[in-house]
Amino acid sequence: PHASMSLNPAFTVSPVHRRTFGSFVEHLGRCVYTGIHDPSHPTADEDGFRKDVIQLVQDLGVTTVRYPGGNFVSGYRWEDGIGPVEDRPARLDLAWHSTEPNTVGVDEFMRWCRKAGVEPMMAVNLGTRGVQEALDVLEYCNVESGTAWSDLRRANGTAEPHGVRMWCLGNEMDGPWQIGHKTADEYGRLAAETARAMRMVQPDLELVACGSSSSAMPTFGAWESTVLTEAYEFVDYVSAHAYYFEEDGDLASFLASAMNMDAFIDDVVATADAVRAARKLTKRINISFDEWNVWYQHAAPSVPPKDSWPVAPVLLEDHYNVADAVVVGNLLISLLRHSDRVHAASLAQLVNVIAPIMTEPGGRIWRQTTFHPFALTSRYAVGEVLHTELRTPTHETAKFGETPLVDGVATHDPESGAVAVFAVNRSLTEDMTLEVDLRAFEGLRVEEALTLANPDAYARATVDDDETLAPRPNTSAVLEGGTGRITLPPVSWTVLRLV
Ligand code: AHR
Repeated sequence: PHASMSLNPAFTVSPVHRRTFGSFVEHLGRCVYTGIHDPSHPTADEDGFRKDVIQLVQDLGVTTVRYPGGNFVSGYRWEDGIGPVEDRPARLDLAWHSTEPNTVGVDEFMRWCRKAGVEPMMAVNLGTRGVQEALDVLEYCNVESGTAWSDLRRANGTAEPHGVRMWCLGNEMDGPWQIGHKTADEYGRLAAETARAMRMVQPDLELVACGSSSSAMPTFGAWESTVLTEAYEFVDYVSAHAYYFEEDGDLASFLASAMNMDAFIDDVVATADAVRAARKLTKRINISFDEWNVWYQHAAPSVPPKDSWPVAPVLLEDHYNVADAVVVGNLLISLLRHSDRVHAASLAQLVNVIAPIMTEPGGRIWRQTTFHPFALTSRYAVGEVLHTELRTPTHETAKFGETPLVDGVATHDPESGAVAVFAVNRSLTEDMTLEVDLRAFEGLRVEEALTLANPDAYARATVDDDETLAPRPNTSAVLEGGTGRITLPPVSWTVLRLV
């Protein structure tokens, strides 16, 4: 069987937004402590940050990093994490039933971002807190000097403002699990007033209102509509969150998870645009898809035993397989395809907690299977996203009915002329030949083709071997008479690069 796509450099969706390749560091489990921060580690720098982690974060091609939560932020007092470390209080973290030592706080995180070369994206607490505390942390981070909070930052060792542009107005406030959970009306008002006040400090902030925690939330749609009706003129983005996992052995449906993401994005865009029309406004609200990943929500422990409040427990440490990596690659295809309206996204999360990068405390570091499609897409999706006319065989899946067997997207860099095609084969059993009509381009040749696949779709990388399952050269790729041709093995993710 074969699928085909037609590409033309004149038919573009949007520029590739570098923020599509964001990630997320939450004070949760071992993401911060023994993840990015581990003073006992042989590679730790003067701030206690693991340099081997920073190296892999750079290899992953991460652009922005959301911080400090997640559910954690809804009970967080940011000022606990500033000043001399020995004076910082330990607190109960109710979201993850843990003890937060506050060894790492906003100043340390900003230092880590500078070292890793990533842009920080902050979330404020709109669970237990409100407008004033959001203004305080903004003043601490972004005002140069001459005020109480900005001078305190300077006294704490950072003369230059942190200059954080992008701020999330709370986290998953639609979720009943959220500390300080709110109705859409309550949250919409609070988000609007917090955003309005934050803009009084700095008008050019980029502000994200909470959308839905998943498209399966009972309030999905109505929530976005109510919140944006209140907050439309004060915010730039509405968030979307989605986690996928294989259920009941239904691999075929799981591999098609991007169909849910496609529909989710379309529904949020339609809802935001409907509010725009009803309110007679002109600007468009775009999407910050600021949590997405594969997450086996019922597998790894997500809370410690009820009678304990550990520091940095092992939580949400999913161990990903080949199929998970194919889904992650496909979700990136979906995000890129919607680049006209998805302007930022965050793979949740970065280290140890549902993460592409794993560490042993004080010890080794390794890459999960999901690391590779993210790293290669971030590296090669450059320039503009092209409209992709895809013709593909389909099959029936329990969750989605008629489901395309091949999915893909392509980018074109007008500067270098490079074309990159990202594609998945969702068939469990059959090779697919993908034909790419490239006659509208001149002088291309196949530069490289890499495929992530394995006869065992459930094979996993390990701390001892994170190389065997890395993408391998796909030698089937050819370009003849303006048509590129490549064989995609079953359950696989591929990048085909032409220059
Ligand atoms: O990423 C893990 C958790 O998932 C986050 O804390 C929360 O926002 C979401 O429910």
